[in-house]
Amino acid sequence: MAGKVRGRSSQLLLVLLVLPAISAGATAKLYSPADRFLLNCGSTSDGLDADGRKWVADTNNSTWLTDSGKSSIMAAADEMDSALPSSTPYMTARVFTMEAMYNFSVNPRDRHWLRLHFYPASYNELRPEEFRFCVTTSTGVTLLHNFSVYFTTKALTQAYLIREYSLPRSPEGFVTITFSPTPSSNVTYAFVNGIEVVSMPDIFNDPVTMVGFADETVDVAGSAFQTMYRLNVGGAYIPPSNDTGLTRGWFDDTPFVQGASPGVVYSAGPRFHIKYPSDAAEYAAPPEVYLSTRSMGSDARMNQNYNLTWTMEVDCNFTYVVRLHFCELQLVHPNQRVFDIFINNKTAQTDVDVIEMATERGVPVYKDYAVLMGNVTGDDMLWVALHPSVMLRPQFYDAILNGIEVFKLNDTDANLAAPDPNPSKLLAEAELGWGRSAEFSTDDPGNMATVMGGTAGGAAAAGIVAAICVVVYNNKTNKQLAAGSDSHTSSWLPLYHSHTSGKSSGHITANLAGMCRHFSFAEIKAATKNFSSDLAIGVGGFGVVYRGVVDNGTKVAVKRSNPTSEQGINEFQTEVEMLSKLRHRHLVSLIGFCEEDGEMVLVYDYMEHGTLREHLYNNSGKPTLSWRHRLDICIGAARGLHYLHTGAKYTIIHRDVKTTNILVDENWVAKVSDFGLSKSGPTTVNQSHVSTMVKGSFGYLDPEYFRRQQLTEKSDVYSFGVVLFEVLLARPALDPALPRDQVSLADYAISCKRSGILPDVVDPAIKDQIAPECLVKFADTAEKCLSENGTERPSMGDVLWNLECAMQAQDMFDGAGSVASGRPVLEPSTSNGSTASFTTLGTSCTSHPHETCVIVETDDEVVVDRAAFSQTVQPTGR
Ligand SMILES: *[C@@H]1O[C@H](CO)[C@@H](O)[C@H](O)[C@H]1NC(C)=O
Ligand SMILES: *[C@@H]1O[C@H](CO)[C@@H](O)[C@H](O)[C@H]1NC(C)=O
Ligand SMILES: *[C@@H]1O[C@H](CO)[C@@H](O)[C@H](O)[C@H]1NC(C)=O
Ligand SMILES: *[C@@H]1O[C@H](CO)[C@@H](O)[C@H](O)[C@H]1NC(C)=O
Ligand SMILES: *[C@@H]1O[C@H](CO)[C@@H](O)[C@H](O)[C@H]1NC(C)=O
Ligand SMILES: *[C@@H]1O[C@H](CO)[C@@H](O)[C@H](O)[C@H]1NC(C)=O
Ligand SMILES: *[C@@H]1O[C@H](CO)[C@@H](O)[C@H](O)[C@H]1NC(C)=O
Ligand SMILES: *[C@@H]1O[C@H](CO)[C@@H](O)[C@H](O)[C@H]1NC(C)=O
Ligand SMILES: *[C@@H]1O[C@H](CO)[C@@H](O)[C@H](O)[C@H]1NC(C)=O
Ligand SMILES: *[C@@H]1O[C@H](CO)[C@@H](O)[C@H](O)[C@H]1NC(C)=O
Repeated sequence: MAGKVRGRSSQLLLVLLVLPAISAGATAKLYSPADRFLLNCGSTSDGLDADGRKWVADTNNSTWLTDSGKSSIMAAADEMDSALPSSTPYMTARVFTMEAMYNFSVNPRDRHWLRLHFYPASYNELRPEEFRFCVTTSTGVTLLHNFSVYFTTKALTQAYLIREYSLPRSPEGFVTITFSPTPSSNVTYAFVNGIEVVSMPDIFNDPVTMVGFADETVDVAGSAFQTMYRLNVGGAYIPPSNDTGLTRGWFDDTPFVQGASPGVVYSAGPRFHIKYPSDAAEYAAPPEVYLSTRSMGSDARMNQNYNLTWTMEVDCNFTYVVRLHFCELQLVHPNQRVFDIFINNKTAQTDVDVIEMATERGVPVYKDYAVLMGNVTGDDMLWVALHPSVMLRPQFYDAILNGIEVFKLNDTDANLAAPDPNPSKLLAEAELGWGRSAEFSTDDPGNMATVMGGTAGGAAAAGIVAAICVVVYNNKTNKQLAAGSDSHTSSWLPLYHSHTSGKSSGHITANLAGMCRHFSFAEIKAATKNFSSDLAIGVGGFGVVYRGVVDNGTKVAVKRSNPTSEQGINEFQTEVEMLSKLRHRHLVSLIGFCEEDGEMVLVYDYMEHGTLREHLYNNSGKPTLSWRHRLDICIGAARGLHYLHTGAKYTIIHRDVKTTNILVDENWVAKVSDFGLSKSGPTTVNQSHVSTMVKGSFGYLDPEYFRRQQLTEKSDVYSFGVVLFEVLLARPALDPALPRDQVSLADYAISCKRSGILPDVVDPAIKDQIAPECLVKFADTAEKCLSENGTERPSMGDVLWNLECAMQAQDMFDGAGSVASGRPVLEPSTSNGSTASFTTLGTSCTSHPHETCVIVETDDEVVVDRAAFSQTVQPTGR
């Protein structure tokens, strides 16, 4: 009895303890804007973006476009870049042939965010280069002048561009935005994909002091400004939907932290209560910004010898306001952590003590500083540096920061526009064949600031789009980029992007000798009939791939490096070493290599039946695969991926899972190929992701990875979910020719599934073969894979398990003859050391999992069974 009572009271206590934490989150009062226009320009239909915000057609209210759209046309982009977060609002545009304006009637007491969304593409046959224009407001502020979205996105290496402005209040009660094509000898046009006009609270109430001039201030309230950077220091990307109602995106600061001493990052748990001193203070930044910090580290001596520094590229000849956000999460007393702030090498403030400013731990505070970036060399870089203050002898020689915002104020001519980035540089890049599809150069986010600095020229506004920056490249790897895109390669081959070299280096031979076979160049020549063009089966900038025969009849794929391709020997070596160590029945393997006379040749398994995709659709006369076959190939591919994720010493993330990277050998065994983009996952326990530049393919890209730039094996799971639906519906992952709600397979399949019409859209060729239960299991699995949040997606092991269950349901449906028909016999759970524990997804498996359905990773018997199976179920016509 006593126990019971105690139990209940402790429950009560728990409730009491939890409540404040919940209410803290719940009471975080969201700003609710009086005006809120989100226009899907050039479209007649409304749509949702990646954050679930609704964009309405710009034709919804005839008062918005002042001439009712007479001087403009509605156009759709010719192709969708995989880097776009959603088709709304980017895939449609309003194109202006002459000056035209949007007009919004607004609350005269509010300032307003104006966000312009641009996606450079061909619209109605107009090339992206032909768009050059000015954007001005009714109050006479020039936002953009002679602006080319195309060149700017190229210089910033971004697929699309969001410009965020804040406009001062308009006493007349309207906001007008005028688009005018630049007058020039060549005809130019203006365009815009999306416009946001949203009320915002006054975030600058007091004049801001100029750094270095204590008695000089700038008046922000009367000015328009442009957001240049908004960084969640020490934390991850915060999407607009998670802001405190102000729909601002907050980006990871890592790319902007300078040098070899990035300090240390600390995050308080989500339970930590951020105590906003006032409602208005909540609008400054969401709690997530304050819950993570970057500080210098624990070594007092080291901290005295360096500055914790962020550098950000900006435009010259403008005044900037830098807002620094602080919140002490660890210390409680004054004079424990005191530091100085330098901006552009000038002292902005000395002896900053966050506890003293904020009164206590967990209370956020921010400070504004104004700086003029002049016209001298070096002035296109804004520096913010922190250094411990030694004068006051604080307990710790350390410094902290939680967030940075940088705003550009209009100049005295009411101008905010900066020149386009240097075009000569861009031309050189264009010649190197910068492709549209996203391929990238640097995997080191710490390197990105330099890359940006190096390539962005005079352009700025990099921070606000840092997380959508998916096409970062540098000089070193442009050639690789030229070769990397799908359109250049015959994609069914095990092509390993970027890892060839024309230079010979004996130590590769030494290192690889023990791992895989060494071929002589003469052998290779004989195998490929001296590289006969008849045998060429794929071409890429990095080399040609040939079909060949070695050893009296073994078919191989031979990749010969392009002698002009200059990839680092080390990179090549690492890649090949990794590949040669990965051996799995469901992974394409490297058989051998040849390095002689400056030639570098790699020899792979030859995959008789090519890619999975060519057996699904557009299959030029090849027989369509039966449902059982498709399911079996999916299971094989899932096995391969499961091995990559868990079987090797380190987690390996494939990063480019798609139907053209799942190959099929002569026995119809699925093999995952193309590890050119793969990455070793986190090696320490407390780090659950790899921060990296976004890579991947069109239509398969994990939206979460894309938004947060954090790679986990769940990104592969997402892509695999797309593959599953592709197999079921037999249509491409992206098909721009289809009606808009059907372009993306992932969205379409999920919406069909949720509205219960999935069975109607299944590939007609297999519709009658699928057991209803099998379909449910299969589609449930695919849907789970496509969960918005990586944490909600199943592991590859779970996926595999569920597919096996789907196969079992199919077996039952097909009747007792299933084993006779070649279904591999599954091992009982006791027969093998496999200790993996499997959780099912939602609905339970049709039979008792532990009796019948066990996934045996490298069990030879299963392999043998499967081989036998494979031979008996080859499609007719082979
Ligand atoms: C269109 O906008 C005007 C001006 O803001 C407003 O008065 C009117 O109600 C709107 N019409 C519709 C159909 O929303
Ligand atoms: C006009 O177009 C031509 C060809 O596209 C180009 O070479 C030239 O530089 C353009 N002139 C201007 C002023 O943009
Ligand atoms: C955004 O907010 C939702 C709900 O509060 C939360 O589940 C999600 O993790 C947040 N996303 C990010 C990226 O912080
Ligand atoms: C800055 O202003 C000066 C003087 O007006 C001008 O000569 C210079 O080109 C400007 N620099 C930039 C980058 O706009
Ligand atoms: C600040 O100093 C660093 C070297 O300490 C220098 O590289 C940089 O250009 C300076 N920045 C400015 C804006 O003067
Ligand atoms: C930190 O930056 C300030 C301002 O640029 C500079 O004076 C100081 O020497 C720097 N300190 C160190 C240790 O680099
Ligand atoms: C600004 O820089 C440009 C180019 O470097 C130079 O031609 C011009 O004279 C400078 N103007 C001022 C006011 O320093
Ligand atoms: C911005 O432009 C306005 C006029 O629209 C002007 O009054 C204001 O002083 C300008 N701001 C700055 C910082 O020059
Ligand atoms: C790019 O690389 C080439 C040689 O590979 C070199 O000559 C050139 O200076 C580099 N350009 C830049 C901007 O680093
Ligand atoms: C190829 O066949 C010849 C003759 O049949 C044999 O001597 C040789 O060992 C075979 N080579 C390989 C690598 O199997």
